[in-house]
Amino acid sequence: MTTRILIFLMTIGVVACSPGSSTDRDPALAKDHYSFANVEQFVTEQIVLNLNVDFEAQVLNGSAMLFMRRIDPDAREIVLDTRDLTVENVEFLVSRGKEWDEIPTEHTLGETDALLGTPLTIYVPDSLADAEHVVPVVHYRTSPESTALGWLPPELTAGGEHPMLYSQSQAIHARSWIPLQDTPAVRFTYLARVRTPPGLIALMSAENDPDVERDGDYYFEMPQPIPSYLMAIAAGNLHFAALGEDTGVYAEPELLEASAYEFADTQAMFETAEAMFGPYQWGRYDLLILPPSFPYGGMENPRLSFLTPSLLAGDRSLVSVVAHELAHSWSGNLVTNQTWRDGWLNEGWTSYLEFRLMQVIYDEDRAAEENLLNYEELLLNFERIDPKYQALAPRITELDPESGQGTIAYHKGNLFLQYLEHAYGREIFDQFITDYFSDFAFQVITTEDFVDYLDKRLLSVHHGILTREQVERWMYEPGLPDDAVLPTSRNLDDAAELAAMWSRGELDAAELPVTDWSAQATIHFINALDPDLSTEKLVEIDKALGLSDTQNAEIARTWFIQVATRRHEPAYDQMAEHLRKFGRVRLIRPIYVALAGNGSDMQLARELFNAARGAYHPIANAYIGPVFEDDPDGE
Ligand code: BES
Ligand code: ZN
Repeated sequence: MTTRILIFLMTIGVVACSPGSSTDRDPALAKDHYSFANVEQFVTEQIVLNLNVDFEAQVLNGSAMLFMRRIDPDAREIVLDTRDLTVENVEFLVSRGKEWDEIPTEHTLGETDALLGTPLTIYVPDSLADAEHVVPVVHYRTSPESTALGWLPPELTAGGEHPMLYSQSQAIHARSWIPLQDTPAVRFTYLARVRTPPGLIALMSAENDPDVERDGDYYFEMPQPIPSYLMAIAAGNLHFAALGEDTGVYAEPELLEASAYEFADTQAMFETAEAMFGPYQWGRYDLLILPPSFPYGGMENPRLSFLTPSLLAGDRSLVSVVAHELAHSWSGNLVTNQTWRDGWLNEGWTSYLEFRLMQVIYDEDRAAEENLLNYEELLLNFERIDPKYQALAPRITELDPESGQGTIAYHKGNLFLQYLEHAYGREIFDQFITDYFSDFAFQVITTEDFVDYLDKRLLSVHHGILTREQVERWMYEPGLPDDAVLPTSRNLDDAAELAAMWSRGELDAAELPVTDWSAQATIHFINALDPDLSTEKLVEIDKALGLSDTQNAEIARTWFIQVATRRHEPAYDQMAEHLRKFGRVRLIRPIYVALAGNGSDMQLARELFNAARGAYHPIANAYIGPVFEDDPDGE
């Protein structure tokens, strides 16, 4: 234990948090089924990490001190979540004035569950039987197989000279790099000391100093309490460019200029978000551009959103992901889903706030285009997802937190909130938004808590507009209610019309007004092409729109899904290149699914995956591997 960390620790207060209020309807639904932690007995209030980043062994090693409060006076065991961690030793710290005594203790690792990992049980010694606060310290190391950690050799980074590390903790991967209560129901603050090889910088979902001396020894503080899935770390040759007073971007030097250009609107988004949703509670807001293997578009790690470099289209056409991750600073990070079943409270709310931000920062047309594309994706989800998972908050407990629902929580949640806005009008609904974030700031809530609040603050105040039953239909029924307000876009309708005309041969490819099109219109055009086009026609449209060579990863995704579905072999080389180039699940998994399902290319799909998987993040491999089994979940 370093004295610097202990001094640091004693100078700051510990924020007390309890697990969120539970609903009295069905306690099984308010419980987190994805954690072993006994949160009814002990809750974590603060974590102090002391970690070394060992690039050669591809492990983090060090210790986690957990400042825990006892809720149940009779509790004598603490159960933490772990996955693939080697636990070397556990002791308790007891403060004796300015000194800390170490009390040795016993621990056991239980049976491993494939989804949940391995419970770590720590026995509280007799001498601490009456203590209200206990401080177990776990000395441990991660495994190179840690599901959260992407370890990149230099050749998989933009610069090619330095290695890089980054984490992805959501939904239940924090336990694979920190032994902790890995549930969104518990919030804690944290401090960390992280050592890296000199010259490389470490960053966390905490206060980061862009001007820090790059001596390989870094200190972090996250003073606001956060749930475990927002624990995040990265290390590499990362540099900083300011985007505005409160915002900036970290990237490898090779990508810094392009990143600063692409995300130049971030400060304006930040200011708009504060004006619309209430005060930003986290200090600075920075972006971190990761290598292509990052498995998501973005991850809302507080103060430092992690982003895929596939957003660097050169024309700012994909920055709705930044609006999305920024909006999570309110929906998700400030007001958090109590369990993953309530995920729509994070993702549906955020998709709606993203839509609202896009309307202001860009224009109504662009927001409408994105809204319609999302709606179409939702319709595809309804076709292939079991109706019992189509409810916003299914009344079930066994849903896989990362896959079962596809993007239903996002787009159906978004449409639900648009429906409320439409029913009550913008003025009333905007007031509801800011009240909601301020009333539940730094709390965790269930769907049922939300519906009660909505009832009290909107339905019962403005009588005769919507009933609770209408709201509950969205929460608990599959599909969309009949009175949903459906998205429309003139621009996309025009693009679909042109796709039909060109497919029928009524129009030459040269006559298409492609230069006026947004990326969203091109995507819609591709999806609206006739299913039976000849190879010659597909070659013609590929050439006319530059599809196989596009710099826009969303256009490439849309095109290569078609290429794979239609077995358009002239574009297979570029499709294979796309699958090698990106590791973002959204950009590649549907192409593998289309290849595996086109009746002829299962073997090719397997070969392409086996050639590329070494460069993907473990989370991406876990999503894509099952595509080649007999019963993929079909997303
Ligand atoms: N929090 C999510 C990413 C996530 C979700 C990780 C579930 C693990 C489990 C993030 O905010 C997100 O939604 N990313 C999207 C962005 C998009 C919808 C704008 C993505 O990665 O595509
Ligand atoms: Zn999100």
